[in-house]
Amino acid sequence: MDKNQQFPSEEHRPSPDQPASRSRRQGMKMLLAGGLGMAALKAGAATASANSCIHDYAQSVNAFGAHQAGVITPDTKEACFVAFNVTVNQARALQQLLQTISQRIAFLTRPQQLKPQHNDQLPPAESGLLGTLLEPDSLTVTVSVSARLFDQRFGLHSRKPKKLVSMSRFPNDRLQPQWCGGDIAIQFCANSRESVLYALRDIIRHTSAQMIPVWKMDGFLPARDIDRHTTAINLFGFKDGSGNASTADSKLMDELVWVTAANGEPSWCTGGSYQAIRLIRFNLAFWDRTPLEDQENDFGRYKHTGAPIGKKHEMDDPQLKQDPHGDRILFDSHMRRAEPRDPERHVARLRRRSFSYSAGVLPTGELDMGLIFVAYQNDLKKGFIDTQNRLNGEPLERYITPFGGGYYFVLPGMKNQQDYLGRTLFEST
Ligand code: HEM
Repeated sequence: MDKNQQFPSEEHRPSPDQPASRSRRQGMKMLLAGGLGMAALKAGAATASANSCIHDYAQSVNAFGAHQAGVITPDTKEACFVAFNVTVNQARALQQLLQTISQRIAFLTRPQQLKPQHNDQLPPAESGLLGTLLEPDSLTVTVSVSARLFDQRFGLHSRKPKKLVSMSRFPNDRLQPQWCGGDIAIQFCANSRESVLYALRDIIRHTSAQMIPVWKMDGFLPARDIDRHTTAINLFGFKDGSGNASTADSKLMDELVWVTAANGEPSWCTGGSYQAIRLIRFNLAFWDRTPLEDQENDFGRYKHTGAPIGKKHEMDDPQLKQDPHGDRILFDSHMRRAEPRDPERHVARLRRRSFSYSAGVLPTGELDMGLIFVAYQNDLKKGFIDTQNRLNGEPLERYITPFGGGYYFVLPGMKNQQDYLGRTLFEST
């Protein structure tokens, strides 16, 4: 589907003041058209169900290479973010933990036929969630570490990535300790919920003696957007990701996302990336009562097309230079504050890879829904922190409450099955 495809214009929508009564002939015509419509719908449904049968659950994303998968690999329908505290306190044990996680990732991200269990007196070797054919369904498992891991416990202090700090509070934040931090964060992504949960339970099962989960948030993206390769719509109903840097541009990814020799980081960090995770609750009751014009002005984009205000198509350049007084796209809009294009594009030196979350009901009776905001960058300060500082005080803040998350460093990739995540950290001096 064309990304720039337009939403039907207002003229094509039925007018609310069309006459209610129609002649019988008109009624028959409508019934017939309706019948044909139903037939077409049924045919469509049949094709759709045939198509859904050919979903390739065996699809796998390569877990090996200079970088971990899950940072610039394609978006998925499902995700889960879990932070863990490490319960071991020696470097060797931490190294073994990372080796175990790496082995599990190598296993989980390739299709596997489950071997029959011969001794039924033993607990089953795995959860059984995926039946006997373990298909990854584009599973990626991305491991990152926080500044806490570089405290006195493991003697790794001198090797800490230079910009890695604990997440501090921004003015609109209402951080809750039970939703923040952890020593290790793991991002699980796949195209089905069961693939994500299978991997999560597998990793917990193999590492429960060395680390315990401290917070977990499940995320999702609209299945229709992933299937149709259109920009995912967030829970405010806006396309989210239009202004993102293209992952196809590997030079740009080196400039924005991946740590390279040019970043002046400890050499073991090359190939890694800083990860900012923010759990952001939406005040949807308030948002859903906000006029469309205000909603659009808050972002600087039209709701249905995703086009910058005053433009036609989602990917149109907002031409901020031609709007020097903010008449068209307000200075306070999210888009203009986040990425002022001043003077060039990518003032926000980050790449977003967020998911929506839906987690139940709050004590106030409101829905607990929002965004797991995730940004990757090779410089946490020039990426997330500076961008968030520009956003502080934006009108959108009336509708959002950041309450958790943290800053982490995505370990460089593992080369092959014999390698493991974190090897360069332990081998460096
Ligand atoms: C409730 C939280 C947020 C929501 C709902 C949200 C949503 C959006 C939307 C709808 C857009 C416009 C479409 C697009 O370019 O993707 C956008 C753009 C952007 N957002 Fe956010 N965002 C949120 C938080 C953040 C945060 C915390 C940051 C970084 C600190 C951020 C950085 C950006 C950047 C850099 C752009 C691109 C602007 C451009 O290139 O034109 N956003 N966001």
